[in-house]
Amino acid sequence: MTTTTGSLAAPLADPDSFADGPPWALFRELRDREPVAWTPEPEPHSGFWSVTRHADIVAVSRSWQEFTSSRGVALEELEDDQLEHRTSLIDTDPPHHGKLRKIVAAQFLPRVINGYEAFLRGIVARTMDNALPSGSFDFVEKVSSEIPVRVLARMLSVPDTDHSKLTGWGDRLVGGSDPEFSEVAPGTPEYDELRLVPFRSPAALEVFEYGRELQAARRAEPTGDLISALVEARVDDEPLSQQDLDNFFLLLALAGQETTRQALTLAMQTLIDNPEVLARLQTEPELLSGPALDELLRWGAPVYHMRRTANVDTVIGETPVRAGDKIAMWFPSGNRDERAIDDPDVLDLDRPTVDMLTFGKGGPHFCMGSFLAKLEYRVTLEELVARVDTVAYDGPVERLRSNFVNGIKRMPVRVTTR
Ligand code: HEM
Repeated sequence: MTTTTGSLAAPLADPDSFADGPPWALFRELRDREPVAWTPEPEPHSGFWSVTRHADIVAVSRSWQEFTSSRGVALEELEDDQLEHRTSLIDTDPPHHGKLRKIVAAQFLPRVINGYEAFLRGIVARTMDNALPSGSFDFVEKVSSEIPVRVLARMLSVPDTDHSKLTGWGDRLVGGSDPEFSEVAPGTPEYDELRLVPFRSPAALEVFEYGRELQAARRAEPTGDLISALVEARVDDEPLSQQDLDNFFLLLALAGQETTRQALTLAMQTLIDNPEVLARLQTEPELLSGPALDELLRWGAPVYHMRRTANVDTVIGETPVRAGDKIAMWFPSGNRDERAIDDPDVLDLDRPTVDMLTFGKGGPHFCMGSFLAKLEYRVTLEELVARVDTVAYDGPVERLRSNFVNGIKRMPVRVTTR
């Protein structure tokens, strides 16, 4: 383990530092003064390096040989037996990673995802028609939770009645550091019992059980959906074990909806906070088919960090790190790095290109669902700006207590329609 070299980055280990959203001033200071900064953590954790510059984040992502995902991509430190039980696609390195990714990758290709547009537009239109007429509603409950989960349900071929189960599980899995969702306190016997379960969450066990029912149904009658691909898969001539199926299903069920929900909520927040952006999109919605979409995603990135672990003694930028050290790549900070993006603190819909890190960049784990997420984001914004005249807050925004997901739990809004 590396020893402390300073604690400028210490607040990044504390979810309360994110109470008002990303700590932009701290990120800037770190990029300028200590771009690879040691971040102490309370016992029993050993601390981690915070990487805040765009170029360094890309370098760490790219160099999977030096920076492994196989010790987990969240900051929780896991023993070998925990890793063995909790590992999914996202926690593996090439070449095994590529074999797992290939099982479902074809279903995320642009030509397949483009086929969802008409279906998606129907969902979005119905969601808007349901939410907007009341004039005052919780945007998270009525809009941003609804859309991703319906798309996911279609990819998993699950019935409409199961939507709320899927969103509830998403909340409970990523919300462990938020008192509203944390179910098991550290130090309790139940916490110890859950040590082999992803996120140490009882919700994961419910997701496994639900996934197993779907897997049994697809074995009996394949439908060509994601679950069918998982149960039919062969890796090195072997089918996936039940544990692999459980973890893969959990990853898809979570990654597919939680992040997109937060992205849509953050986009609405951007429109409320920047009326000139709403006005521009109302008159020029075609901007959403170009780099302006990436600019909005740069501005409101839902994932704060992913972890890697140094495999060898090496350097990041000019900072030496030791084999075994944890590394956190702070994507929103990279998105505001003036070394990579001109005037990064300006939301500029006219940028010709946007080099954003919202979905990761440069490495084997680049978000598999990015094309789908962007389609959902574009269609939702197109349908929204076509319908609303004005948008405003209608009560306090309630944020998720987390340094992992830039999450909003409730966002009461008031809208007038055209
Ligand atoms: C705006 C919405 C989304 C954001 C911001 C997002 C962000 C990310 C990020 C940051 C990573 C890790 C990248 C890395 O470590 O290099 C990731 C990985 C992943 N995402 Fe997304 N994601 C979104 C939507 C989706 C959707 C809709 C799906 C699928 C239905 C999805 C599936 C995945 C999967 C499976 C991985 C792991 C890929 C691998 O390890 O090879 N994501 N995502």
